[in-house]
Parts: sequence; C-alpha cells; structure tokens
Amino acid sequence: MNKEIIEKIREKDSLELALDTAMNKLQRAVKKRNDDLHLLNFVTVDEKNRPNTRNVVLRDFSLKNLTIRFHTDKRSSKIKDIKANKNVCLIGYDKRAKLQIRISAEASPINDEEILMDIWQKMYPMSRECYRVTKSPGDKIKSLSEIKFDEGDESNLIGYDNFVAIQCDIKSLEILYLGHAGHIRARYINSNGSLNGEWIVP
Ligand SMILES: Cc1cc2nc3c(=O)[nH]c(=O)nc-3n(C[C@H](O)[C@H](O)[C@H](O)COP(=O)(O)O)c2cc1C
Repeated sequence: MNKEIIEKIREKDSLELALDTAMNKLQRAVKKRNDDLHLLNFVTVDEKNRPNTRNVVLRDFSLKNLTIRFHTDKRSSKIKDIKANKNVCLIGYDKRAKLQIRISAEASPINDEEILMDIWQKMYPMSRECYRVTKSPGDKIKSLSEIKFDEGDESNLIGYDNFVAIQCDIKSLEILYLGHAGHIRARYINSNGSLNGEWIVP
C-alpha cells in the first residue's frame, strides 16, 4: 500500500497528494487507539534552553484550523516549558505507511472552561483518574506509598482542576516517506492558514 502511494506521489510529482495522504493518516489516528500516529512525541525547550520530550496522545487534529490537541496535567513540567517557550515540535512515525510526520508549532493551554468541561465529560472515567493524584506529577517522593489520590463525593469532577488541554498551532510540517526506490521528503509552511509545500532532499 505504501509502495503504491509513494509511486503515485513520485509519478505525479504531487506535493498535494503527499500532503493529503499524510494528513488523512493523522486525522484517522485521532480515533484509532492502535494507530502509530495516535501517539506523538511532544518536544519542548525549558527556561534554561534544555530540550525535553515525552509521548502524548493525539486527541484532535484539525486540518481546517491547522491545530493539534492533547490533554495533560496543569502541574506537569511541559506546562512550565511552554509558558517559558511556546515553540514546540511534535513527531510521529506510521510504521505501516513508512511515514514520518514532523511538526513545528506554537503551544498554549486552552482556557475556555466550556470547552475543557465538554472534553472532561466525554473522557473515559479511567482517563480522568490520573488527574486525581494529590501531589504534582514530577514531585519527588520517598516511597510509592506517598502516591495518593484525591477522594471526594460521587461527582466526576475530582481532578478536573488539574486537567488542561493543549492546543498546538501548526507553523510548518515536514513529511518523509521511506520507499525502496528512494525516499520522499517535503516541507509545508503555514502561510495565512494554507500549507505551502516544497520538496526537499531526503
Ligand atoms: C503511551 C503513553 C501515552 C501518554 N500520553 C500522555 C498524554 O496524552 N498527556 C500527558 O500529559 N502525558 C502522557 N504520557 C506521559 C508523558 O509521556 C510524561 O511522562 C508525563 O506527561 C510527564 O511529562 P512532563 O514531566 O515532561 O510534563 C503518556 C505516556 C505514555 C507512555
């Protein structure tokens, strides 16, 4: 399947087909838990210019708005990082499609309580659990027994105050298809909401 697509992209020399194929894969990955691109590496730079990376789950991708969203704990160190420097990268690799997607973006927490509450209510109960942890993620502890979870009434709102969604506004992206007959690599720059592409040497 990968071979056919790569051949078609090469034959047509089509930046558009290369982009559409990659964007479709990303879009499908939002809902497909086993898809390779459901998990992206999120890279930040901290206030001392040190890079940090971690896996995050792709929760939304809008081709129209050129945004990517994931969920996290407000107390986590990635939040400190993006407050110090909003420039981030996201990278993923679809093994079957032999496709790497690398994204440069500006990240910011979503502050709209209505949107956050809507996401929270639609979340699997299990996914809400991690936000109930009493101490902040990344805090030092002497023993695993110090990991405690806030308990409370029957409402599903415990932990909600720690929850936030991060929106990444895509500034540019790069795709790389690995092919037997040669790799294909292209870069697309967001110019006023449209992605302008150019081939680059793989
Ligand atoms: C498969 C997998 C999925 C993960 N998904 C998320 C996620 O969606 N959001 C998140 O904040 N952390 C997620 N994590 C945990 C992060 O990779 C990371 O360990 C944690 O968020 C602390 O990161 P930080 O200290 O750099 O902020 C995931 C980890 C794994 C292994």
